[in-house]
Amino acid sequence: MNNLNQFAGGVHYVGVNDRTTHLFEGLWLVPLGVSYNAYVVLGSEHTALIDTVDAEHATQLELKLQAVLNGRKLDYIVVNHMEHDHSGALPHICRCHPEATVVGNAKTAAMLDGYFGIKGVHTVADTDTLSLGPDCTLQFHLTPMLHWPETMMTRLVEQGVLFSGDAFGCFGALNGAVVDRDMNTDAYRLEMYRYYASIVAKYGVPVQTALRKLDGVQLNYICSTHGPVWHDQLAEVVQTYADLAQWKAEPGVVVAYASMHGNATGMAEHIAGQLAAAGVRNVVLQDLNVTNLSYVLMNIARYSGLVVGGPTYNTQIHPRVAALLEALKNSGMQRRVVGLFGGYTWSPGVTKKMAAALDGLKIDLLDTLVEYKQTPTAADLEAATALAQAIAGHIAL
Ligand code: FEO
Repeated sequence: MNNLNQFAGGVHYVGVNDRTTHLFEGLWLVPLGVSYNAYVVLGSEHTALIDTVDAEHATQLELKLQAVLNGRKLDYIVVNHMEHDHSGALPHICRCHPEATVVGNAKTAAMLDGYFGIKGVHTVADTDTLSLGPDCTLQFHLTPMLHWPETMMTRLVEQGVLFSGDAFGCFGALNGAVVDRDMNTDAYRLEMYRYYASIVAKYGVPVQTALRKLDGVQLNYICSTHGPVWHDQLAEVVQTYADLAQWKAEPGVVVAYASMHGNATGMAEHIAGQLAAAGVRNVVLQDLNVTNLSYVLMNIARYSGLVVGGPTYNTQIHPRVAALLEALKNSGMQRRVVGLFGGYTWSPGVTKKMAAALDGLKIDLLDTLVEYKQTPTAADLEAATALAQAIAGHIAL
C-alpha cells in the first residue's frame, strides 16, 4: 500500500474503485467510474473501520483491511450510511472479524437487522464519543436525511478528520491518489454537482442543518464515501455544498428538450440562439432523448435559468420531458426562472400540463407558454424569442 493512502496520522484509505458499473443506482451514468471509500483509524488502543464498500468488492476491502491492520484486531466497524454501496460488504467483513463491534445510531441498528440480520449493534446518539486511545477520539454527528434517515458523520476529533458519508461526495473513480492535494480534481469538482443534483438535491434543508452543526468545528480533512478526500479544497467544497443546498446558481440557461420529428429541436435551437443574442454566455442545450438525466439535473443545479420543451405524446407530456419535470418537482427546485414550450398536432394544452407538473415549486415560471400547432409559424418563433428575452432579462448576466 503506498503512502498516499495514509493521511492525518493514523487514518488509512481502504476504499475501492468501480469502473464497470454502467448505471449507478441503475439510474445515473458513471463514465468516469465511482469509488466506494472506506477508512481505517488506528488508535494506540483500538482500531476502527469507517464504512465498508459495495458487496462485489468485499474481498478487495478485506485484503486492504488486513494489510493496514498488520496483525492487529479490528475492534469497531462504524456504519455512517446503510445504502448498499457502503454496507454491502459489511456481512463479509463481520464474518472475517467476528470480534468487531458494529457501531451505528438507532435507525442504523434497525436497518442492519432488516437488511442483514445483524444484531447487537453498539448504538450511539448525537455527539457521543468512542475512544480508540489517547488523542484518538471518534465523535458521532447525526445528520438524518442526508440522504437517508440513518445517515450520520463521524469525526476524528483530535485530527479534525470528518468521515462525512455521501456528503461532499462525487462520481469518478480514483486514479491512484486519494487526497485532493495529490491529484487534478477538475473532473471531480464537476461530478460533485452531478452527484448532488441526482441524489441529494431533494435534501437541501437537511444539508443546511448538517452544515450548521459543523459550523465552527475545526476540520482538516473531509473524507466522503465517494471521490477524493478534501484537504486543500476543503473550504471550497463546503461552500459548493452550501450553495447547492440553497439552490444558488450562476447566470446561465439550460434548454432541455425532447423532439420526435425535429420541430422541438428547431424551437430549442431558436431559443438558445436568442438567449445568446441577449447576452447569456452560459447556454446549455440538452436533448433529453439521448442525455442521461443526471447531466441535465447537474446543469440545472448550476444555472439560474431553465427552458423545457417538447412535443405532445399521446395527448400527454412527452415521457422524457415528464421524467425531467417529475425529477425537478421531486427535488424541490427553487430560485430558477423557467420557460416552457410545447408542440402538438391535434390535441392542444401540453404546456399547461407541463406548468401543472411544476406546481408548488418556489420558482419564477413565466406566464408566456409557447405552444405551436404542427410546424411552428413565424408568430410562434416570435413568441419563443420573447420567451428567451424574458428569461435573459430575469437572470443576472
Ligand atoms: Fe453512496 Fe447513499 O450511498
